[in-house]
Amino acid sequence: MRYFPVFMDLQNQVVAVIGGGAVAERKIRLLLKAGARVRVVARELNEQVAAWQQAGQLDWSSAEYTGGQLDGARLVFAASDDAGLNRQVYADAESRHIPVNVVDDREHCRFITPAIVDRDPVTVAISSGGESPVLARRVRGWIERLLPTGLGAVASAAGRLRDAAAVLPLERRRQFWDRLLNRATIDELARKDDAAIDAALRGALNSELLADTAGTPAGRVILVGAGPGRADLLTIRAQQALGQADVILHDRLVPADILEVARRDAEFIDVGKRAGNHHETQAGIHELMVEHARRGRVVVRLKGGDPFVFGRGGEELEHLRAHDIDYEVVPGVTAATACAAFAGIPLTHREHSQALTLITGHTQPGGKDPAWAELAGEDRTLAIYMGVKQAATLRDKLLDAGLAPELPVALVTDGARDSQQVFHGSIRHLPALAARAPSGAPGLFIIGRVARLGEELAWFGQAAEAQRAA
Ligand SMILES: C[S@@+](CC[C@H](N)C(=O)[O-])C[C@H]1O[C@@H](n2cnc3c(N)ncnc32)[C@H](O)[C@@H]1O
Repeated sequence: MRYFPVFMDLQNQVVAVIGGGAVAERKIRLLLKAGARVRVVARELNEQVAAWQQAGQLDWSSAEYTGGQLDGARLVFAASDDAGLNRQVYADAESRHIPVNVVDDREHCRFITPAIVDRDPVTVAISSGGESPVLARRVRGWIERLLPTGLGAVASAAGRLRDAAAVLPLERRRQFWDRLLNRATIDELARKDDAAIDAALRGALNSELLADTAGTPAGRVILVGAGPGRADLLTIRAQQALGQADVILHDRLVPADILEVARRDAEFIDVGKRAGNHHETQAGIHELMVEHARRGRVVVRLKGGDPFVFGRGGEELEHLRAHDIDYEVVPGVTAATACAAFAGIPLTHREHSQALTLITGHTQPGGKDPAWAELAGEDRTLAIYMGVKQAATLRDKLLDAGLAPELPVALVTDGARDSQQVFHGSIRHLPALAARAPSGAPGLFIIGRVARLGEELAWFGQAAEAQRAA
């Protein structure tokens, strides 16, 4: 990192701006907003700068520039259209140890100014380290769209409530703000006027103080779908939940870059199921959720894919409900849609498939066999989760049900991850496809005529590269 980011308090501090044209005007506008005492050194002022000067909002020196006009300034901007003068200003400021910025001349900048998303008092400053101002502006556009316009009003109201909230003990206070300032509430508050925001926040604090006298506040559990293993496929709500969580109970296969989205001081507990550890059994996970929520904590139960698709999310909610624990569910991108998308296989297609079934290949001992002939066929798609180890049995059952041995099949392993592989074949090849799957990688079978389209429509990873080379 070449530049150290800081926010400076310039209230009533002198800032010298050399130049009085359009470039200077842009800087002066922000400096006035920050409460700085702006000293402009320029022979002439443009209309806007002159208007500020006439309104007494800045001091103007029309005299010839001498380094002395920088004395006492906290910052200096050289914004004239004379490159020689700007460099002289740079040298003079450097010799006085005053941070200086020659506008649009990175080599002559002791500091640079970021692109800004302004939701005063919330300010997001973005820098590309001077490498690409266009990129920094693009990032600003993305962030602009993410932040509600009324965010500043909510932040100011939260500031006004800070002293009153200080009666709560530190950890409790942090949890109160964490719970209160979630995206849905902020969006709702941001549409109100200041008085209504103040009233809503004060009401929330009063409820919290009442709960305080009733003992430990209730925690809650957020069941979050982590998707197929790419941080950029997390939903915004999943990111927010991870940012709020005090405890994260996660499956073993959730990759590190997804866990990095979480609060750094959260407690991470790997509950990936391995033999022999009670915390890693389903009953152990149920207990952990209840235990932490009862201690007033926000618990994120982070599961691969979608929590309600072969994720035992339903059982976990039943347990929470039975123990009177509040919960929320955040959907995730499930393996079938992720694998299909990243393998270029449309799960439905007007000409090839009118129905989609998600099924597990892992039948419970003594469990009844599904009606395979109804689930797979020429006009429908079957996505089989947890089927790689049962590939030979699956092949036999599908053939016994009368399905065509040549019905196309794709096996996607590590779907949507950089290590993704896609193997194409047909029902009769199921065991051979499974034998090619890398050991330990999760794999999903997609069966139906759509599977074949992936050979043409692949766009991601090795399959697409091979196709382009052909
Ligand atoms: C216990 S299930 C969990 C499914 C998860 N809840 C979901 O919605 O994707 C695990 C199975 O999902 C499939 N799976 C999960 N992630 C996958 C991925 N990235 N690529 C291929 N298959 C995946 C595999 O069939 C794996 O055996």
